[in-house]
Amino acid sequence: MIISGNFFYRGRIIDCAVEIEDGLIVDISKNKRGKRLKGIVMPAGIDVHVHFRDFKESYKETIETGSLSALYGGVCLVVDQPNTNPPITDEKVYFERMRKAERSTYIDYSLNLGLIEENSEKIKNIIEKIEEKYYIPAIGEVFLKNAMMVSYETLERVRKSTSKIITVHAEDPKEEDDVLAEVKAVERCLKIGNFHFCHISTSKALNMIYESNSTSEVTPHHILHSREKIDFRVNPPLKSNEERIMLFKNFQKADILASDHAPHTIEEKKEGKPGFPGVEVVYPIFFYMAKKGEISLNELVKKFSKNPAKIFNLSRYGEIEVGKYANFVVFDPSDERRIRSDDLHSKVGWTIYEGFMAIFPREVYIRGEKVLEDGDVLVDKGFGEVL
Ligand code: NCD
Ligand code: ZN
Repeated sequence: MIISGNFFYRGRIIDCAVEIEDGLIVDISKNKRGKRLKGIVMPAGIDVHVHFRDFKESYKETIETGSLSALYGGVCLVVDQPNTNPPITDEKVYFERMRKAERSTYIDYSLNLGLIEENSEKIKNIIEKIEEKYYIPAIGEVFLKNAMMVSYETLERVRKSTSKIITVHAEDPKEEDDVLAEVKAVERCLKIGNFHFCHISTSKALNMIYESNSTSEVTPHHILHSREKIDFRVNPPLKSNEERIMLFKNFQKADILASDHAPHTIEEKKEGKPGFPGVEVVYPIFFYMAKKGEISLNELVKKFSKNPAKIFNLSRYGEIEVGKYANFVVFDPSDERRIRSDDLHSKVGWTIYEGFMAIFPREVYIRGEKVLEDGDVLVDKGFGEVL
């Protein structure tokens, strides 16, 4: 199969033909011709930080609804986080969740292994057992406070015992001030070794990570929302507008853009549960911002596709390139729309981006197969592969 169109290739948009065999790109050239796609063909998104819930929290999201929401947002692969109920802290629960994903995911799916004090001594052994069957992108996200709390000492011991990537939710448990909590936790972790830092919300921490050999992730909500504007809870908390602007100014120093898709029902939000759904709107909002010149398209692709693949060793993903999966998203830049919660697909049915301008993908291709076109999903649940 050959597809022609304006492809985002090696940092710019070129008119070319992409030849696909068994889901993989086998040739990219200017001389061939195939069925022509309208619009701009971008590498599909990779969201390395989602909480798809399921199990006992199926009432607010499942792998099925979360992955459908991701697909509508142009995401071809997610990394799901282990703070489910029950949590993913041994091979038994890991296998159970992957079997569930095999039956129900629309897009490709991978899962991190959770770290708690209780499994920290056997973590290497658990990894070995799981990796006979599946690929684990990382240990994490590791919490330094809350229910799955791990001490710095344990984190250090585990960091020294394995070469696996460890992703950290960096908020110091002892610090009241939320800016300092992040800065202190990052400072302390950087002394221990290299980590991937989830959802960094302060420019200071971002710069510290940028100067180190560790990697960072930022979220749309810390870039687009400030605590002056909305008072919904999230961890790490939304910052002041001044801090938000500083973070956005330093956007280019972040390695990854990820949603931290953390759905809760409206009732739970009233009780103060932290987190927002977001996997469906990252690419649409940021593609719109790129069109307006607020960020560069190249930066967006790096942070939402190329770097996620590179950092988490997802070798067949992240670029339109020979040898990679034919995972594309087709945007029509003239198709600007306001986000309406009724149009989104997460189970919780609300969004903090109501009314935001966005450009949603018109078509999505996964491993060469058209899976979404003009708002219609063309495959069944279970189409996605688990890693
Ligand atoms: C996350 C959740 O709800 O799972 N919530 C959040 O505010 N980000 C957990 C977390 O990362 O703290
Ligand atoms: Zn977190």
